Amino acid sequence: MAALVDGFGRVHTDLRVSLTDKCNLRCTYCMPPEGLDWMPADTVLTDDEVVRVIGIAVRELGIRDVRLTGGEPLLRRGLVDIVRRLAALDPRPRLALTTNGIGLARVVGDLAAAGLDRINVSLDTMHRETFVALSRRDRLDEVLAGLDAARAAGVAPVKVNTVLMRGINDGEALELLDYCLAHELQLRFIEQMPLDAQHGWDRDLMVTAEEIVAMLSARHTLTPVGGRGSDPAELFRIDDGPAVVGVIASVTKPFCAACDRVRLTADGQVRNCLFATEESDLRTPLRAGADDAFIAARIREAIGRKRAGHGIDDPAFLQPIRPMSAIGG
Ligand code: 5AD
Ligand code: SF4
Repeated sequence: MAALVDGFGRVHTDLRVSLTDKCNLRCTYCMPPEGLDWMPADTVLTDDEVVRVIGIAVRELGIRDVRLTGGEPLLRRGLVDIVRRLAALDPRPRLALTTNGIGLARVVGDLAAAGLDRINVSLDTMHRETFVALSRRDRLDEVLAGLDAARAAGVAPVKVNTVLMRGINDGEALELLDYCLAHELQLRFIEQMPLDAQHGWDRDLMVTAEEIVAMLSARHTLTPVGGRGSDPAELFRIDDGPAVVGVIASVTKPFCAACDRVRLTADGQVRNCLFATEESDLRTPLRAGADDAFIAARIREAIGRKRAGHGIDDPAFLQPIRPMSAIGG
């Protein structure tokens, strides 16, 4: 089996699979209030198709980590069964889930039993009114219940993803950190990226990694951990440890040079970058009876076309047509 290498020598071992573009929140940095036109049901890969592509990726392309995303992946009816089937693959990939946490309390036990190894939950605020302003839904309690249940289910570590926005939740960095420390959750702040469907991203409204580290340093001693490999998060030990906090400087310090990720959308398109402007269609060949070697070759070709970086700071930067919810985080 040959590794999945691009033209810059980057080896790809991490596959992110979006299982649906639908979501039960409407986070302002992702979707407009009215939601989006969801993908037609018949274009969404079936459970069998999803499991088949991931099987090809682990057997023929050296994928070792699989992350299930959305939209909101808990809205995918067959999720637990998909996890169970992925855990039975040989070689068995590590299995992770990125979720907004709504409904997690109910299924996290089943997910863990099915083989889910790790989980990331999005949480941008500890305050109900801010949660409503940010996600346009009054469901903070369900997210917090999901976090508690995830820890109780023994999925470890449970990570929390936070996007800070100026004037909205940027005063909450320390409060979110306190909460995560008290609940044994690993917090990671992510710089806001231009991936919203409304194209409302504004660099000046983005809270930078540097600002985040400064805010946290007001009350804690942050010591860089180092040795991050392809982890986009720069980790800092908090005070004397052992707890760490992560800061993902996607925009101000791009980590593209160490990127090991490839993405599959819910409608069966391979994307070699979050910010790719081109995709490779797997759905058509999958449904036309293509064999595993053909699918593997198509994924290889897609990686062969991967660009050096996202170029958000390039004047010629174009935001991808697909919003985050249709790509997967
Ligand atoms: N910039 C940064 N992070 C984003 N997310 C969604 N949209 C954006 C954006 N524009 C995050 C969510 C979630 C993960 C899937 O990606 O908060 O944690
Ligand atoms: Fe849903 Fe995640 Fe988008 Fe928020 S960021 S609307 S939780 S897909």
